[in-house]
Amino acid sequence: MTGSSLLLQTEAIDKSFPGVHALNRVDFDLKEGEVHVLLGENGAGKSTLMKIISATLPKDGGKIFIRGQEVELMSPRHARDLGIGMVYQELSLVPTLSVAENILLGRLPKRKSGTVHWSRVFTEAHRLLDDFGVDISPRQ
Ligand SMILES: Nc1ncnc2c1ncn2[C@@H]1O[C@H](COP(=O)(O)OP(=O)(O)OP(=O)(O)O)[C@@H](O)[C@H]1O
Ligand SMILES: [Mg+2]
Repeated sequence: MTGSSLLLQTEAIDKSFPGVHALNRVDFDLKEGEVHVLLGENGAGKSTLMKIISATLPKDGGKIFIRGQEVELMSPRHARDLGIGMVYQELSLVPTLSVAENILLGRLPKRKSGTVHWSRVFTEAHRLLDDFGVDISPRQ
């Protein structure tokens, strides 16, 4: 059931909101190198499933396995550390922060002492903007 060729597996994921049973025992298998499209009408539960897999929302029931190992995802950062990222359709920017800080929100490079490594913040953001051919100063 939990063969290690499976990168990610969900088993009987369940989630309810007040008045809505959004996910009813959802099984989903993802093998390495696969790309899946999740298709369903508005309110079918697509976003809810993705939010549970990326630990933005807690599940009511069911199990999540990564490479055959059951995991209890504690936070989006924990999920990301395990290789699960989420790219949102609608991004929220923080208008009071710089371009670089928005790009690296939640994952600012730190020094060993724990303080933010500002020169790396700006060089890393600059590199990413450059990769996409975006001509915006990371310090803006
Ligand atoms: N935070 C929430 N609180 C209450 N109900 C919610 C919440 N999030 C989702 N729901 C409900 O759960 C169900 C599934 O919603 P979900 O957003 O996962 O659907 P979806 O398939 O992503 O839809 P869409 O195609 O519109 O993006 C819907 O009935 C929705 O109203
Ligand atoms: Mg959605």
